[in-house]
Amino acid sequence: MKAFVLERYGKKRALKLAELPSPALRDDEVLVEVHAAGVNLLDCKIRDGEFKLILPYRLPLILGHDVAGVVVGAGPQVRQFESGDEVYARPDDFRIGTFAEFIPVKEASLALKPKGLTMEEAASIPLVGLTAWQALIAKTDLKKGQKVLIQAGSGGVGTFAIQLAKHLGATVATTTSATNFALVKSLGADVVIDYKTQDFEDVLRDYDVVLNSQDGKTLEKSLHVLKGGGKLISISGPPDPEFGKEVAAPWFVKLVVRLLSSGVRRRAQGLGVGYSFLFMKASGSQLREITRLIEAGAIRPVLDRTFPFASTNEALAYVEAGRAKGKVVVRIK
Ligand SMILES: NC(=O)c1ccc[n+]([C@@H]2O[C@H](COP(=O)([O-])OP(=O)(O)OC[C@H]3O[C@@H](n4cnc5c(N)ncnc54)[C@H](OP(=O)(O)O)[C@@H]3O)[C@@H](O)[C@H]2O)c1
Repeated sequence: MKAFVLERYGKKRALKLAELPSPALRDDEVLVEVHAAGVNLLDCKIRDGEFKLILPYRLPLILGHDVAGVVVGAGPQVRQFESGDEVYARPDDFRIGTFAEFIPVKEASLALKPKGLTMEEAASIPLVGLTAWQALIAKTDLKKGQKVLIQAGSGGVGTFAIQLAKHLGATVATTTSATNFALVKSLGADVVIDYKTQDFEDVLRDYDVVLNSQDGKTLEKSLHVLKGGGKLISISGPPDPEFGKEVAAPWFVKLVVRLLSSGVRRRAQGLGVGYSFLFMKASGSQLREITRLIEAGAIRPVLDRTFPFASTNEALAYVEAGRAKGKVVVRIK
């Protein structure tokens, strides 16, 4: 099969198009013919070597964390899927590789593709949808009437998270630049702040939840818009000790992780608010809930651009430039 492969770690290093044997299928996995693959900053960060400590991948490696496609085979333990099913997934860490013609995906991480979505639209959903779900539902249990700040509302995570938070009945504030105001308002944002001309810290007070996806300075400011007992969830770091435990990191990585977040955790404690880091995980059951919301019309995909398979490196560069409005997808079949 054809696949885009990372041969050596390196900043902005091009992935190489290669001909590889079809991947071996494990007993609990479903073989998916990839029709479309979503592109995520995580792909760029792994390629650059930024995740070597916590995700020690052996090279060569096929990148790609989002798939929509068709089931073409299944291991003997698989019960819920059969050939011909249209599915989508965020494959598990250490089993990634959607920039390829085929990928084995654990049954427990797969879900039926929402009816009415194209393959490209479906491939844009899993990683960002699960991130928003795990941040706003699993970690913070966001409730009707609460206030949430979702940073970078025009990005991949933001466009999904705004819609999910509105569906949950929350009041949503978001940051973006003026060119994206109409987009985030169309998704339901109630308060829109232009991060280029305004400081959200001066405008927002007494928030229940902040979803941080930006730099360290923004993280610090986020602490000050929360009310007592509020929760700051960061998906852009720093990782916390809980995360070190979850990934069963070796002792020295656990120590680094503890030190990296000690400052923000201490300041959060001083203000009476919570801090936690989220590194999203694959989940077929949460993806099924997401399918339900999409089919009910509560959430729609926001696609910026689709690239042909041959232009996978260009798709990564486009995402890396940081101006995407919603998601970027590679069309494979
Ligand atoms: N931990 C996890 O599990 C996890 C999961 C998913 C993503 N992430 C991380 O979360 C971050 C966001 O991911 P993403 O996929 O949503 O990114 P993305 O789609 O690339 O974000 C692009 C958007 O961000 C906006 N933006 C850029 N700088 C901004 C700023 N300072 N304030 C507000 N908006 C800004 C841009 O709007 P303008 O063009 O108007 O500037 C653009 O629309 C990344 O660091 C990613 O690695 C982590």
